Amino acid sequence: MYVSMKEMLWNAHENNYAVMAINCVNMEQAKAIIQSASEEHSAVIINISPRQMKAHGHGNIMAPMIKNMAEKVPVPVAFNLDHGANLEDITYAMECGFSSVMIDSSSYEFEENVRRTKTVAALAHGMGLSCEAELGHVGMANQSDNTRTDLYTNPEQAKEFVARTHCDCLAVAIGTAHGSYPKGFVPKLDFDRLRLLKDTLKMPLVLHGGSGAGDENIKKVVGCGINKINVCTDLFKHARQAMADAIAADPSIDYMDVCMVAQEAMKVFIKRYMRLIGSSGRYTFEKDQGPELD
Ligand code: 13P
Repeated sequence: MYVSMKEMLWNAHENNYAVMAINCVNMEQAKAIIQSASEEHSAVIINISPRQMKAHGHGNIMAPMIKNMAEKVPVPVAFNLDHGANLEDITYAMECGFSSVMIDSSSYEFEENVRRTKTVAALAHGMGLSCEAELGHVGMANQSDNTRTDLYTNPEQAKEFVARTHCDCLAVAIGTAHGSYPKGFVPKLDFDRLRLLKDTLKMPLVLHGGSGAGDENIKKVVGCGINKINVCTDLFKHARQAMADAIAADPSIDYMDVCMVAQEAMKVFIKRYMRLIGSSGRYTFEKDQGPELD
């Protein structure tokens, strides 16, 4: 099923689990993600950023391909613009056929973030799409030192932000960051703030920068109210390593076989993660309900 993020994230909010949101730039990744979701009876979100679309996975190719694959499986699959920066990014995603958009105006001051988010949420809702926003700011992992608590999300401000913008889910800053952390660094997360955010907002919350956070942190954020976890770096590294190992083991391996090795390796990673964050087994269906994606 090709759907927006709205219902699946409210289901996760009401039942205290989280859905993976995985950055995806090609067919092998899309297949690995959607097959994993179907086999795990789990919802899933496929993310792509404007930068990733410009570099490789063009939106007008990815969206119809993902929609086609999603419609072959009996679990909810959303395709979400990750970190849309402006109206140009947002309207491009809408024209391509995304089912959801994120507007990230978290680098702007509060009033400007409200103004931009409110405009995008209204546009998205008018087209039946869901809208994610960010308040506070999730930075880059290579600059992390656990000290930028001034960038963390303020619960009272978040309440006003959601009431004024009508965003469907909110990405909060509690100590994770995007990319690879310095070697040996494990982020310290502000779980008290997260609990307070959940109590105050009572809505689906999003964690960006899921890679490198460690299983314990990830399990705990889900327990404290996170319902969508963005993962890019760890999955890309895992796929790259599987390809490198396959080529090292057989230097004459066929190109298509290397792609398939990566696809299978990604499935192992994704299915384990789905179990970790509790999204596995949430959707029940008969085995022969609808065609399967192979
Ligand atoms: P990672 O780089 O930690 O995988 O984060 C991805 C992300 O948050 C995309 O929005």
